[in-house]
Amino acid sequence: MPLKVLAIAGSPRRNGNSDLLLAEAARGAREAGAEVETVELRKVRMSPCVECNACYRLGRCRIDDAFQPLFEKTLEADRLICSTPVFFMSVPAQAKIFIDRFQCLWSRKYVLKEPLFEGGDRDRRALVIAVGGSRSRKMFDCIEMTWKYFFDVLETTYWSNLWVNRVDDKGEVVEKPAVVADAFRLGADLVSAPREERRKPKSTEHFAE
Ligand SMILES: Cc1cc2nc3c(=O)[nH]c(=O)nc-3n(C[C@H](O)[C@H](O)[C@H](O)COP(=O)(O)O)c2cc1C
Repeated sequence: MPLKVLAIAGSPRRNGNSDLLLAEAARGAREAGAEVETVELRKVRMSPCVECNACYRLGRCRIDDAFQPLFEKTLEADRLICSTPVFFMSVPAQAKIFIDRFQCLWSRKYVLKEPLFEGGDRDRRALVIAVGGSRSRKMFDCIEMTWKYFFDVLETTYWSNLWVNRVDDKGEVVEKPAVVADAFRLGADLVSAPREERRKPKSTEHFAE
């Protein structure tokens, strides 16, 4: 059975910088033998978390919308590739809504103390791709922290990062072939690299002044 990869596009902008790098990473994952599905969060009609805390009792989210099938898909995936632009030092609203809805999983784990997965230990890994327009390097700390907490809840190893600053115009990242090549390589590595303990993700950084 090929590994299942879910490629999650977090930007509101179609074919923007993070989308293009996500597509390259997905291509790398496919060439490494995985089955890849891409989800564009901008197209998913989902409510934000309303903090009703029903999930404290139910272990799932009671809001019946397009998040529900996406939630199942996210749990089924062996690998996640999450791409995002930096918006005000964090992820855009589309990505944040997706992340916050996983509070139901947090509840299942920490309030109800139920196992997330049947059949025990699974090798789940994630790659994060983030782009920003400014010179800042610090902005990726916020991105990393947000996804780290998300992957902790999902019992997924935060495997690697690709950080790229100083890209603003739609699609201009294609003018940086070394970045595009790294996206492909990281997608393939996510699928094919042997399993290992990682406390911190391996980071590939393209920082321009
Ligand atoms: C609402 C908004 C907020 C932004 N905030 C930041 C920021 O805090 N730091 C930064 O470096 N770039 C910021 N940017 C620039 C984007 O991160 C940049 O244009 C990026 O390349 C967009 O990626 P995309 O094409 O994948 O959407 C912001 C852009 C928008 C529209």
